Amino acid sequence: MPDRILVFYGSYRSDRAGIRLADYAVRTLQARGCDAELIDARKLDLPMLDRMYKEYPPGEAPATMETLAGKIRQADGFVFVTGEYNWGMQPGLKNLTDHFLEEWFWRPAGIFSYSAGRLGGARAGLLWHGTLAEMGMVVISSQVTVGPIAQTLDADGNPTGDAGKSLERSFARFADDLAWWTQAAKRQREHEEPPF
Ligand SMILES: Cc1cc2nc3c(=O)[nH]c(=O)nc-3n(C[C@H](O)[C@H](O)[C@H](O)COP(=O)(O)O)c2cc1C
Repeated sequence: MPDRILVFYGSYRSDRAGIRLADYAVRTLQARGCDAELIDARKLDLPMLDRMYKEYPPGEAPATMETLAGKIRQADGFVFVTGEYNWGMQPGLKNLTDHFLEEWFWRPAGIFSYSAGRLGGARAGLLWHGTLAEMGMVVISSQVTVGPIAQTLDADGNPTGDAGKSLERSFARFADDLAWWTQAAKRQREHEEPPF
């Protein structure tokens, strides 16, 4: 069975640029044989957090939330494509992730950060590291940092110039790292039930 990887992206802006990187992540993971799917927070548009998924009686959560909970539970690993607003996280993606907790447990996660500037959203990436760990994921040490995004990926999401080459190199290492931890976690889940 190929590794099932969900790629999360959460900008709600009309002129969003990070979708280039999210699409690149999905495409390149698929080219490596993963069963990768984009989860676009804007498209799902969960409400501003009221009840978490687990706070609904069984079968009564909104359909979009129910479907997403099932996808998260069945995934082998996660990639979070994270932009930076005022040194912080993008609210759409944070809102989506906060709807779930136990559904995330016992799988690895990797971070692709990006921005319009040279620091490539590194500050938001750092914040996500702690949040994903709190939500029960093992955050891999390889991180892809992309900036300036418009000089790294063209409008079709293809790598351009030296920055694009650098992205391809860092992606290869990231994907190897994620695949190793995905396999490790998968085997351990098969070998022993998670303790909680
Ligand atoms: C409200 C807002 C705040 C931003 N703050 C930062 C920032 O702190 N650091 C940075 O490098 N870029 C910042 N930017 C520029 C973003 O990196 C750039 O617009 C990027 O394309 C945003 O991602 P998106 O296009 O996928 O929404 C900011 C942009 C917006 C709209």
